Amino acid sequence: MKELKVLSIVVIFTLVLYWGVEPFAHSQMHKHVEFNGFAYNGKSDIEQLDEKIKKINEEITELKNSGGKDIKTKIADKEKELNELKAKLDDTKKFWAEINKVPKGGDAAAGKAAIAACVACHGIKSQGMKAPMDPNAAAAAYGVNPPDLSNAGALYDEKFLIAFLKSPTHAAHVKKLAMPGGLAGDDKNAANIVAYLKSIAPKEITPKEAFVTACGRCHANRYGKWTQIGDVPKTKSNIKTGQDIDALKFKEKVADYQGKLANYMGKLPPDLSIIIRARSEDFLKTFVEDPQSQLPGTAMPRVGLTKEGYEKVISYLEETGDPSKPKREATGPWVLGFFVIFSLLAYGWYKSQWKGLK
Ligand code: HEC
Ligand code: HEC
Repeated sequence: MKELKVLSIVVIFTLVLYWGVEPFAHSQMHKHVEFNGFAYNGKSDIEQLDEKIKKINEEITELKNSGGKDIKTKIADKEKELNELKAKLDDTKKFWAEINKVPKGGDAAAGKAAIAACVACHGIKSQGMKAPMDPNAAAAAYGVNPPDLSNAGALYDEKFLIAFLKSPTHAAHVKKLAMPGGLAGDDKNAANIVAYLKSIAPKEITPKEAFVTACGRCHANRYGKWTQIGDVPKTKSNIKTGQDIDALKFKEKVADYQGKLANYMGKLPPDLSIIIRARSEDFLKTFVEDPQSQLPGTAMPRVGLTKEGYEKVISYLEETGDPSKPKREATGPWVLGFFVIFSLLAYGWYKSQWKGLK
């Protein structure tokens, strides 16, 4: 029986390491952030501001108690910061209270009539509307290429979209964003446009389409052969046909786009080929739900994905970053089963060998 005990201890230990310790270590590397289930209602925005205000209040009390020299100007600076934060909190509360009041479900036909305000910058390919500019010209004008809106109604949360049209910076939770607010008119008109976007949304979207719409204007994916301006063209090395020159020209265009994007964002957004291996599931979902929660001050916008939209994006990141995962997961149980059966057989054999000898 001793052998079986040793075996079971080894098995249990391995399982604990695999399912317990590793994910736990991952979760400890990042601060805990509450996940709101991809609901966009301003809750985390308000909580983050409350927390900042609390911290500054503590700092002011500390300064007052310290009794050091020239604390007056230091306190005045902190108080100025405090007042700015309080004003921001009021503004944030007011904004989301208005958004939370907008009734769901607009008039898609009225929205269709109003979409002209959008296709000045965005394409809607599925409706035969090409983007008015190529990505490089768009980046020169706005810093980033406005995404095609064919899939927007399927990927983004309805309330988020209404908030985004009213005030892109509030919705995306960033300091600046190239799309102006109020283009859709009042909240009712915004709801109509969102209803139109939902009405044209395709039933099925591939993981790659989800990634391209939601992330692809900012993030490349080398393993997926995606650059911010499109797929890497398939060219063969052949100087005679001039195809090398095409590949070179494409690279130059990508570099040009990335330069403008880095300027707009403050830095070039990282390639996401293997992010799925570098970051835990918990980090990714809370980060995408609200980038400010994990990286305060970041320029990456909250994009407003629904749960389904997020899952699509993640499955693309899994496809490119960990292509052998499905295979590995499928073979895992077989390998384990083999070991169990093999151990039982070995144990039986061992017993039978020793039977007459004891
Ligand atoms: C002046 C150009 C311009 C106009 C007009 C415009 N947009 Fe945009 N839009 C942009 C840019 C630029 C971005 C990308 C901004 C970024 O990612 O920082 C964007 C982003 C978006 C996004 C993506 C939001 C997300 O969650 O990532 C949606 C949806 C959108 N626009 C919808 C609309 C709709 C609907 C209209 C019409 C009411 C419209 N836009 C009008 C420039 C424009
Ligand atoms: C408008 C541009 C933009 C869009 C759209 C965008 N990102 Fe980002 N992203 C950034 C920038 C800029 C950074 C760098 C953030 C920083 O360091 O402050 C970043 C960083 C990241 C990181 C790295 C965070 C870290 O440090 O670990 C991840 C993961 C990420 N983005 C995922 C996504 C996903 C997934 C999407 C689509 C759902 C997306 N991003 C859409 C601009 C963008």
